Amino acid sequence: MVVGCVMQTPDGGMGAMPPPIQARNGLCQLPVFGPVALKMLNLLANQEAEVRTIAGLLRTDPALSAKVLAVANSSFYGTPQYIDNLSRAILVLGFERTKSITLTVALRSFTRHPANPKVMQSCWQHSIATALLAEELAPLYEIAKDRAYTAALIHDVGRLGLLRAYGELYAPLFAAVHDTLAECLEAERSLFEMDHCQAGLLLTQCWGFPSEYSRVAGCHHGELPAAKQDLVSLTHTACLLADALGFPAMVLARPPSTAAIVAQLPVNPWNPYAFHEDQLKGKIAKQIASVEST
Ligand SMILES: [Fe+2]
Ligand SMILES: [Fe+2]
Repeated sequence: MVVGCVMQTPDGGMGAMPPPIQARNGLCQLPVFGPVALKMLNLLANQEAEVRTIAGLLRTDPALSAKVLAVANSSFYGTPQYIDNLSRAILVLGFERTKSITLTVALRSFTRHPANPKVMQSCWQHSIATALLAEELAPLYEIAKDRAYTAALIHDVGRLGLLRAYGELYAPLFAAVHDTLAECLEAERSLFEMDHCQAGLLLTQCWGFPSEYSRVAGCHHGELPAAKQDLVSLTHTACLLADALGFPAMVLARPPSTAAIVAQLPVNPWNPYAFHEDQLKGKIAKQIASVEST
């Protein structure tokens, strides 16, 4: 297992109490998250992917194909003629953008579950907010924006998995106000003997996600070396900022302040970052509304 943070593993490593067997089984019996999205992540992570292979994969999911075509034809890309061909749409968007669209659609579908819709909705909105903030901050960490978006989008997949598998037990935690994030994690561990990071690590490994996504899902609340500027630390910061900007998954009595988080961002003297809180909040709310309307 690849982990660069201090954490306990869901199989009881590093002194952790073994989780109840039913929690492991319940998580691993969940339907595989977005099979097409997952295949695409692996295709793009492990080999030189070809456009026709990706197009062939997308064609197996008509709703997903329609979404990819719709984005490629949006005014943002300003293509002169309507694109009705998936291969061309992928070329216009690029692999990373195609991947992030695919994952967004898959995550949306995973969170559209009849049990606990309100809680699922707040987790979904937190995931989108974190992804957009990771994309925004990615240049400061010298990470490609689409890669940052995709990884941050699935950072709380453990939380979503626990909700799908043990909603009745888990949902009441979302109705409570917790003092700090550490208290939320402790409350999860007291219920499941694993927190949502450990659940995320277990799930992404069960489902066969590329290891960098497992690391993000498993380590984003871990103790990170202060100077580290990688995908996990970027996601960690984006998740905190999503909470501070009003898009939390769980309500904290003492959320971190935006000023404190922004003060910790890496400094790029060649490209100083200007933080505009209201603009960012507006952008996130608009993006959430746009994804939800599809
Ligand atoms: Fe989290
Ligand atoms: Fe989060």
